Amino acid sequence: MTDPNAAKRAVAYAAADLVKDGMRLGLGSGSTFLFVLERLGERMRNESLRISGVPTSTSTAAAAQKHGIPLLGMVEIDWLDLAIDGADEIDPHKHMIKGGGAALAREKIVAAAAKEMIVIVDESKIVPVLGARFPLPVEVLAFGWKQTERAVAATGCIPSLRRTASKDPVVTDNGNYILDCKFDGIADPKRLHDQLNAIPGVLDNGLFVGMAGRVIVGNTDGKVRFLP
Ligand code: 5RP
Repeated sequence: MTDPNAAKRAVAYAAADLVKDGMRLGLGSGSTFLFVLERLGERMRNESLRISGVPTSTSTAAAAQKHGIPLLGMVEIDWLDLAIDGADEIDPHKHMIKGGGAALAREKIVAAAAKEMIVIVDESKIVPVLGARFPLPVEVLAFGWKQTERAVAATGCIPSLRRTASKDPVVTDNGNYILDCKFDGIADPKRLHDQLNAIPGVLDNGLFVGMAGRVIVGNTDGKVRFLP
């Protein structure tokens, strides 16, 4: 039987194998990134690799600890050697939508502190235009979120408050809400990024513009390739 996680594992392992002894890492979030932790834990045991990392979510922090990876807080670092993270969509300019796991704000802070952000995706995440398929996550303060939602809608989307299975609002690690914003494709990601972040009540949005370094793409056959 074929491994349903073959592409994710392949791309995550390829990224984890680029990590060098002594590096301080930005630890991303999501199902693909979990395989990076698996491989890093294995390398720590087998090769005595010494690393530490800043987690981008409480769930990543818990998973990293399970693999014995020492954690750092943002206040303990000036910069990181490398951040590794997944994405929800990536376009030909390597601009991305992130935040499917509600960790976008911390992911952006951590990636911005890193010398390079390595992005790991499978083929399904590569799109010609961002936002035609995946709704853009926007993290907003709970206070006044309805007003914020109206202002966000005026940028040309249909926002919807992200809820749990029991219909409560999803609360991020920062104590905020997420609006998932359905656009009909995002023509100018940089412009929209700046427009959204200028709205009172918006903490950050899931557009990562000009932040990706190397992008590794995994295939179901276990092969990986680097985007040119
Ligand atoms: C979390 C993220 C993730 O990196 C993104 O959602 C990809 O996740 P997955 O690897 O599970 O598809 O941005 O906020």
